[in-house]
Amino acid sequence: MPQTTNRQILLKSRPEGMPDESNFELVETPMPEIGVGQVLRRTIWLSVDPYMRGRMSEAKSYAEPAKLGQPMVGATVSQVVESNSPRFAAGDFVLGYDGWQTHAAGDAKGLRALDPALAPVSYALGVLGMPGLTAYVGLLDIGQPKSGETVVISAAAGAVGSIAGQIAKIHGCRVVGTAGSDEKCAFVTGDLGFDACINYKTDDLGAALDAACPNGIDVYFDNVGGAVLEAVLRRINVHARIPLIGLISQYNDAEPAPGPNLRPVLTNRALLRGIIVSDHAHRTPDSGLPARHVRLAPRRQDPLPRRHRHWSRKRRERLPRPVRRGEPREEDRENRGRGGVSFSREPSPYPLPEGERGLGFREVSSPLSPPGRGLG
Ligand SMILES: NC(=O)c1ccc[n+]([C@@H]2O[C@H](COP(=O)([O-])OP(=O)(O)OC[C@H]3O[C@@H](n4cnc5c(N)ncnc54)[C@H](OP(=O)(O)O)[C@@H]3O)[C@@H](O)[C@H]2O)c1
Repeated sequence: MPQTTNRQILLKSRPEGMPDESNFELVETPMPEIGVGQVLRRTIWLSVDPYMRGRMSEAKSYAEPAKLGQPMVGATVSQVVESNSPRFAAGDFVLGYDGWQTHAAGDAKGLRALDPALAPVSYALGVLGMPGLTAYVGLLDIGQPKSGETVVISAAAGAVGSIAGQIAKIHGCRVVGTAGSDEKCAFVTGDLGFDACINYKTDDLGAALDAACPNGIDVYFDNVGGAVLEAVLRRINVHARIPLIGLISQYNDAEPAPGPNLRPVLTNRALLRGIIVSDHAHRTPDSGLPARHVRLAPRRQDPLPRRHRHWSRKRRERLPRPVRRGEPREEDRENRGRGGVSFSREPSPYPLPEGERGLGFREVSSPLSPPGRGLG
């Protein structure tokens, strides 16, 4: 006998800290009816994902919060029961976002057809869906693993981490996971093929990372933040890459965890990257390369003759003025031939990051060095 009611789990209240049953309500409602172009479908698979904790709260985020009194949101794989849309027929499998309910009715728009001959339909919520795409983009675009490097992946037994680790193995990396039980660790090494797995709840995390990563850590695929991130950061190599995927260790915190809060970095897709100036020495006159070079101000330790100190201060004040390629500047004319400040409009001959015009556009020469040369 066909089902006549729809069972829904509504978000009743916004949790403080860890959610519990009191935040939800199970209700039965009449089976929804469909209009023109609409589809009635029965939920077969529902994915319960960490991002849902954020949707339960009203805090500003990259997505709208779930509405109180409505079925909790979530991605679903469903089978079409009845269709008024030419795109779908009864029996078809679809990927949708119907939330925590047994049935949903609505426009066919937004549903994606699934082919059960291609892969089990549940894969659309895992490796062939959002978690798989997260792992793929996070690891390959941001992590950029290279053969022989060491990649550490937290929440390694989870939907995203398990896939990221397998991709890193395909790329010839040593892959080390962290997970919250010995059983999960056995799955991570035995079934998924990671080289090692650390139970972060029972092992001495620092010592275990040292043992599992003797050559340091080149890529940390961070799903959790908090203590694991802290321990890994102490062991990263020069030019390590850290895809910041999730901060699940903090999602239920009622108060912000101590230390810098990386959530805005994650949600705003911000770039946080160290620089050490000596890596860029070739971009200064000190490199010994031909003079098309820049020094914005003399080094502090350079003893300047007294007569030049005022000039030096003045020069620093003048430098920030913008210089456009090919555009004559008043200062050029004023200072040329006086042994004062002059500016070159020639581009830097040294390799520069993409899009950067380079300090070469602001070349400096001075009375302390021959015209056309910097202070080098
Ligand atoms: N940036 C994006 O677009 C994006 C997309 C998808 C997912 N994510 C993020 O990726 C992460 C993993 O997602 P998933 O779908 O793989 O999740 P999942 O399959 O539900 O796995 C989550 C796992 O995280 C671990 N965990 C929970 N609390 C923890 C804590 N306090 N410290 C350390 N680990 C903890 C638990 O495993 P253990 O038992 O091993 O601790 C849990 O099973 C989440 O942070 C999620 O928000 C981000």
